[in-house]
Amino acid sequence: MLKNKTIILGVTGSIAAYKAAEITSWAKKQHADVNVIMTKNAQYFINPITFETLSGNKCLTDTFDRNFQYNVEHVELAKRADLFVVAPASADFIAKAANGIADDMLTTTFLASTCEKLIFPAMNTRMYENPITQDNIAKLKRFGIKVIEPGAGYLACGDTGKGKLLLIEDIEEHILLHAAYDHDLSGKKILVSAGPTCEDIDPVRFITNHSTGRMGYAVARNAARRGADVTLVSGPVSLKEPVGVNTVHVTSAQEMFDEITAVSDEQDIIVMTAAVADMKPVNKAAEKIHKVTMPDAIKLTTNPDILSYLGANRREGQKIIGFSMETENLVENSRLKLRKKHCDMIVANCLKVAGAGFGTETNVVTLISADRMQELPIMSKDEVAEKIFDFIQKDC
Ligand code: C5P
Repeated sequence: MLKNKTIILGVTGSIAAYKAAEITSWAKKQHADVNVIMTKNAQYFINPITFETLSGNKCLTDTFDRNFQYNVEHVELAKRADLFVVAPASADFIAKAANGIADDMLTTTFLASTCEKLIFPAMNTRMYENPITQDNIAKLKRFGIKVIEPGAGYLACGDTGKGKLLLIEDIEEHILLHAAYDHDLSGKKILVSAGPTCEDIDPVRFITNHSTGRMGYAVARNAARRGADVTLVSGPVSLKEPVGVNTVHVTSAQEMFDEITAVSDEQDIIVMTAAVADMKPVNKAAEKIHKVTMPDAIKLTTNPDILSYLGANRREGQKIIGFSMETENLVENSRLKLRKKHCDMIVANCLKVAGAGFGTETNVVTLISADRMQELPIMSKDEVAEKIFDFIQKDC
């Protein structure tokens, strides 16, 4: 996903420096051209040879190294770079970068580069929270440099608090958000619904379905990686909130309806992947129902059909995408749904096909618009998400 991208990875003197090896290895596997630059202090924590072995490129440490092919290495690399990442970034590096100091290979290259820059701080909580560091961070942000808030927890120095290097998988997602795709959805507001809804019977029990939310989360992630401003309205799932996505948590279909319709007018594209419960109990018992008082039946009523509402109340130019999960007559039933719910596109999947549907890592879908149909082979839910937006951009 990072093919033909040149990434500079700055590594500074923090105990978390060793974690940069994992980022290097991952970026290389994503086919990026990774160029690591280390400060002098970083080399006390991890050897440059590690980065050279993992990246296949010389690890730059010394501005005045004469044993190398380029005369003005920092300027040459700065011109080529698509993304400049500093992870871990020490308080010292942040202070230097904020004040335009260029006294080593990393700070010199940083100052010479005009590409997008992402800084991942890692330091002791007191250093991080010190107003001087905070002021430096605010200054960097004013210049358009992205400083991502660190994690919190037990730190190597024994303190507990903010200042932990962000989880590597989150750093990787930030890199993908900035460098993996042409931002063809930039400027677009996209709303995605995901997961099941839960309809309470009493304070303990509820009606729900097997949706895990994986498809919807993949759709939200793909939209964010392509530059969109994404809101994800999610039913109860056990997935991590996608990085770079505004996630709103709901439980019932009515809550999902309320959250979605509150912001639906602002959206350019709405993708309803959620498995919204069609029915809910007419009354939720105030207290737990016990065996002795158990009713013979639970009276149900219908939930609002969010997709139908959105289709009938759409803003001009807005695109509405629905999902259809069938066990038979997939295309026929999906075409009917497309018309009935006034959608621009239906993503149809058949529950009976191996590798499709709930809880799987993969899906097998057919994309259907009023005059186009594309049958896709089995692929990961991330790949399906990508195909959905390709189809929306080209064919509906
Ligand atoms: O009618 P059916 O449930 O098969 O339609 C599925 C599509 O409709 C999905 O996109 C789903 O998110 C949406 N839906 C909805 N509100 C409901 C039921 C389904 O928005 N109450």
